[in-house]
Amino acid sequence: MPDMSGKNGLITAAGDGIGRASALAFARAGARVLLMDIAADGVEQTAQLVRDAGGVAEVMVGDASDEDFAAQMVARVVELWGALDFAHNNAGVGAASTPFAEQDRSVWERMFRLNVFGTMGFMKHELRQMEQQGSGAIVNTSSMSGKNGSPGLSPYNATKWAVNGMTQTAALEYAAHGIRVNAICPGATLTTALAEWKDSSPQQYEAVTAAIPMKRMADPSEQADAAVWLCSDEAAFVTGTLLNVDGGDGVLGKQ
Ligand SMILES: NC(=O)c1ccc[n+]([C@@H]2O[C@H](COP(=O)([O-])OP(=O)(O)OC[C@H]3O[C@@H](n4cnc5c(N)ncnc54)[C@H](O)[C@@H]3O)[C@@H](O)[C@H]2O)c1
Repeated sequence: MPDMSGKNGLITAAGDGIGRASALAFARAGARVLLMDIAADGVEQTAQLVRDAGGVAEVMVGDASDEDFAAQMVARVVELWGALDFAHNNAGVGAASTPFAEQDRSVWERMFRLNVFGTMGFMKHELRQMEQQGSGAIVNTSSMSGKNGSPGLSPYNATKWAVNGMTQTAALEYAAHGIRVNAICPGATLTTALAEWKDSSPQQYEAVTAAIPMKRMADPSEQADAAVWLCSDEAAFVTGTLLNVDGGDGVLGKQ
């Protein structure tokens, strides 16, 4: 396991799913984490899980699409612990499958507000702080949908291509400043929503997993472990990488 002891960072949308797993994984590696989510109960539960495991976690409740809130979170990490060593910009939403021509503009706008402008706002303030420090590592949660076409998911697909573009451009702009910027590209991951779908639609679940080379979905902890590694010194020469964590789906050219 990478050693993140003495490192301080923030994680967005840490109230459930990949964000919660990330909080637990960074803390297990020794880091102190400032967690946020729009749902107070979930993120407080995550913080308690971290503390129960012997880690250090603080919480802020807010909307990850709010750039002022992003600036406040970055400032809070520095106020609490002196530096922002890493950030996991994980917040993102999807929507039900709908053909392109039937997609409502409001869905595009909602998804761009959080997935793109939310990620951009956090990145901007993290990069400003990390540039002052001369060090830092950012990992964004993208998706395999950001590397391929995703029939039925046009707005989500477009937002994740945007996240990948922002990741690689920031990686190049800040590579000489001691700052690394990478993304994880999860394939299907068994978060609460997908676990409920697995229970309610077992045949569809079987069909989806049968098409994944590894014949299963990811556990959220597998996404989290990749995020921790990308932010750790073990990945010191890795920047601009869009890391598939997908059981082989990407090699098949699937979303
Ligand atoms: N689960 C998957 O199969 C999968 C696959 C590829 C990519 N992803 C990406 O992983 C990331 C996390 O997804 P997940 O499946 O773990 O989610 P999840 O649905 O399990 O959890 C999402 C969390 O985000 C919070 N949230 C929602 N809107 C928010 C907002 N505006 N501000 C702050 N918090 C907000 C929710 O309260 C919840 O705690 C997303 O960016 C998603 O696109 C997920």
